[in-house]
Amino acid sequence: MHLLLSVYIMIPPISGFSKLSKTEKIEWLAQHHFDNSDAAITVLKTYWNSDQQLQQLHDEFTENTVSNYYLPFGIAPNFTINGQRYTIPMAIEESSVVAAASKAAKFWESRGGFKASVISTTKIGQVHFSYTGDYKKLETFFNYIKPQLISEAYPITKNMEKRGGGISNIELRDKTSDLENYYQLHCSFETVDAMGANFINSCLEQFALTLKNAALQFEAFNDEEKNIEIIMSILSNYVPECLVRAEVSCSINELPNTNDLTAQQYAEKFVRAITIAQIEPYRAVTHNKGIMNGIDAVVLATGNDFRAIEAGAHAYASKNGKYASLTHAEIKNDALHFSIEIPLALGTVGGLTSLHPLVKLALQMLSFPNAKELMMITAVAGLAQNFAAVNSLITTGIQQGHMKMHLMNILNQFNATDTEKTFLVDYFKSHTVTHSEVVTQIEKLRS
Ligand code: MEV
Repeated sequence: MHLLLSVYIMIPPISGFSKLSKTEKIEWLAQHHFDNSDAAITVLKTYWNSDQQLQQLHDEFTENTVSNYYLPFGIAPNFTINGQRYTIPMAIEESSVVAAASKAAKFWESRGGFKASVISTTKIGQVHFSYTGDYKKLETFFNYIKPQLISEAYPITKNMEKRGGGISNIELRDKTSDLENYYQLHCSFETVDAMGANFINSCLEQFALTLKNAALQFEAFNDEEKNIEIIMSILSNYVPECLVRAEVSCSINELPNTNDLTAQQYAEKFVRAITIAQIEPYRAVTHNKGIMNGIDAVVLATGNDFRAIEAGAHAYASKNGKYASLTHAEIKNDALHFSIEIPLALGTVGGLTSLHPLVKLALQMLSFPNAKELMMITAVAGLAQNFAAVNSLITTGIQQGHMKMHLMNILNQFNATDTEKTFLVDYFKSHTVTHSEVVTQIEKLRS
């Protein structure tokens, strides 16, 4: 700890770093952070793309880019959603996730497939402001300037309106019972096929400007009231009204029937596992993490913002005041019903969607979905992932499948040759994979 601290203190501060060329940035990094700077530079350069134009595109997505960070781009075939067949693109590093999705897709494909529907598509943004004065006057002022808020934002909204979206509502909210002098413009938007963050934030900043300027000229306000203070204008990633539902169901006799569990027992154990995630937050977080394994992978592959989706999903999981499962299961009329309801503010235009070649390919693979279709596909990936995880948990446990998939990572850590890999993958078909057992077998093979 002490050693680490002293190393960091030795690095001189640098100003104007962003103005340096890529080569200069790498040289600075290598010189100040690595004993073997040549080796570090080689690693960074190994991940550069030989196509200079493509590399420049990636360099320009963000700032201070020195290399590319690859994630595997996997595909999960055999998804039937509302009667259509999909192969779902998934960008994820965790072993087992794509395999689990594919397995769940195949399982449900022969049991009617997945059904999905979009419940709502409203997105939210807020202008947070302070106002000191009479609330009634503020309300009168707000009603007076509401048309002006909309008309002054028209240069921003006109193209969105042509596409069928725009501002749906602006409300004044009194939040003074939570915080002194705190009010909001709570605004709803339809952004059609765009995720809409830029559109919403631009509208909000314009609303704030209109609000501030109009207040200065509102005659009924006294000097203090005129002086509305804008605190901030920003979209919300909590989108409980941008909601999608996906479900599967099959009769109990179509469920796995083994020596350990009859189909009926399987259904009951499955429902109980989901119920535990409904009532027990420690389990619910891991349960939902498994759902997000599927969701994030599709969100990333299709160029959407997985941090926004994560934040919104977990907030929604707490909507009743206690963190709970995003999926639900029940046995009704001798059938197992399993569903997910999740907010997903996704876009299929704008952002990376027309820039990143793999994102373009992912969307093409999905036959260029609109935002609603992508919401449904993504929710299905989450439901499938959860089905696969809970299925493993209530039967074999997850380690058996997970360690089989993880075997390749362990073999790669030991630089196993292709021949060694073939031999050991075959060996572990009938033996339990543990890290130590893999090491033992590699050593045995090599001795
Ligand atoms: C691991 O990434 C995800 C699981 O833990 C999910 C779950 O427990 O439901 C397997």
